[in-house]
Amino acid sequence: MQNTPHIPVMLNEVLENLNIKDGGVYIDGTFGNGGYTSAILDAKNTKVIAFDRDETVLPRVKEVKEKYGDRFIFFQECFSKILPTLKQNDIKRVDGLVLDIGVSSMQIDTPERGFSFRFDAPLSMAMGQNNLDAKEVINNMSESELSDIFYKYGEEPRSRAIARRIVSIRGEKPIKTTFELVNIIKNIVGEWQATKVVPRIFQALRIYVNDELGELEKVLGDSESILSSGGRLVVVDFHSLEDRIVKNFIKEKTEIKQAVSRYIPVAIENNQKLSFKSVNKNAIIPSKQEVEMNPRAHSAKLRVMEKL
Ligand SMILES: C[S@@+](CC[C@H](N)C(=O)[O-])C[C@H]1O[C@@H](n2cnc3c(N)ncnc32)[C@H](O)[C@@H]1O
Repeated sequence: MQNTPHIPVMLNEVLENLNIKDGGVYIDGTFGNGGYTSAILDAKNTKVIAFDRDETVLPRVKEVKEKYGDRFIFFQECFSKILPTLKQNDIKRVDGLVLDIGVSSMQIDTPERGFSFRFDAPLSMAMGQNNLDAKEVINNMSESELSDIFYKYGEEPRSRAIARRIVSIRGEKPIKTTFELVNIIKNIVGEWQATKVVPRIFQALRIYVNDELGELEKVLGDSESILSSGGRLVVVDFHSLEDRIVKNFIKEKTEIKQAVSRYIPVAIENNQKLSFKSVNKNAIIPSKQEVEMNPRAHSAKLRVMEKL
């Protein structure tokens, strides 16, 4: 693992909203550098069950284990697997679940992982436990599939032209590195536009390769069964596609749906079971001082719900 430390985003706000209690059991679904995990373990006499899909976190897991012993358990798994993992291990009570979605500083700053367009490296972007990597996507998927990925996950208006050029170039020789992809994009949109387009294409590939939105939808759906009554769900997300999923989930689980027609019996509405209450009406965002100190926090949004 690269030694760029990951600065935990909105750490105080996360701790406060998890409502940490002595004797509580908390899940950190995105261990990373263990910033949240260690803070939860230091705050009170708690237990933390942590998950991360990336095996490069294991040396850090070892350090945390050495310090906290039985109070800390780690599973190298995707967070979509939290519920079956808890069942297999007969863990029933969970007082809080925190998710800090996305890539860590260690991942993005390790050139050979291929997450960053700032370094020339093999096209990978796999966080761990993946079925495919970015090189396979770029070289094997059809023009329309590529265009859909760039449009859907990168919200890139020139997705079609970029996909067309990729397919034409790879016909001559495979596209293997981040800089080859960056240069293809620059040739189409020009240097100036590329500063916006390249990050969108890289974001789209990363989301697709790691099924990031599918993972998020799955863990949110499972959170109902993961959390005990009164347990808190705290999600920190970093872009609008993730935030839309979290917001819609909160809406669905915390608001009685309005009757579509006034002829629908009221009983149908009342039968709707709400499983969560929303804790904050609006998303919590990082302070100006935090963003100055840690620019990577700038787009973060923290949303909180409580299991009924
Ligand atoms: C932003 S970092 C978390 C940093 C952590 N909160 C800290 O303070 O050190 C995100 C971590 O979540 C992991 N991750 C992302 N998606 C995941 C998923 N679907 N399942 C499990 N881990 C995931 C990444 O590998 C990365 O290590």
